[in-house]
Amino acid sequence: MKLQAVIFDLDGVITDTAHLHFLAWREAAQELGIVIDAAFNEQLKGISRLDSLQRILEHGGRATDFTDAERQAIAARKNACYVASLTSLTPQSILPGIKELIVTLRQKGIRIGLASVSLNAPTILSALGIASLFDYCADASRVKHSKPAPDIFLVACEGLGVLPQHAVGVEDAQAGIEAINASGMASVGIGKDLQGAGLLLTSTHELNWPRLAAYWNNRNPVTEA
Ligand code: BG6
Ligand code: MG
Repeated sequence: MKLQAVIFDLDGVITDTAHLHFLAWREAAQELGIVIDAAFNEQLKGISRLDSLQRILEHGGRATDFTDAERQAIAARKNACYVASLTSLTPQSILPGIKELIVTLRQKGIRIGLASVSLNAPTILSALGIASLFDYCADASRVKHSKPAPDIFLVACEGLGVLPQHAVGVEDAQAGIEAINASGMASVGIGKDLQGAGLLLTSTHELNWPRLAAYWNNRNPVTEA
């Protein structure tokens, strides 16, 4: 079976925005008297904005202190701070090997998709100068169940016109690997300690076409007629 599409997560796979999310959340949390550190921030990777806030409030023992409207206001403050920091992104902010891989995949006729739960994804792809390389970007605002639910990857497959069984997903977060696996796609994890990744690589440096093709062909051997 031929590989038909590769669907990428954004934050932590295409560019490293995790630190910018952390700085913005740390400031918003501090206003609520909650202290978070970089280790805690690991838990927020791949998690939607409001789900991240929920985890921060639980961490600070304030899970029941705010109304929905107040939560929206806190999340909006965090987002304003985060969006301001996105002006630091340029094409040089693309993680090593990613642009080369996408260009190679396109040359091979393999479709390219994005499955990010970030509502800032279009802004980030534009800042990186690679928006036009994507055949389809799933719209996070229209996906009801966030990662680890498979929804955003299924929407991306549908938008690309491919079956999940014909596609690979690339993720740096545990919730994202679970979402890919639940969708029926093959999963590639970037990082350490990711349970259940079909192929686990320590960084995007290692993510290239020969590795991806070997993983795919091993998983989907071509059977003689
Ligand atoms: C994910 C990040 O890609 O997007 C999370 O890994 C983040 O940390 C989520 O919370 C939502 O992003 P945004 O930009 O919509 O707040
Ligand atoms: Mg990510």
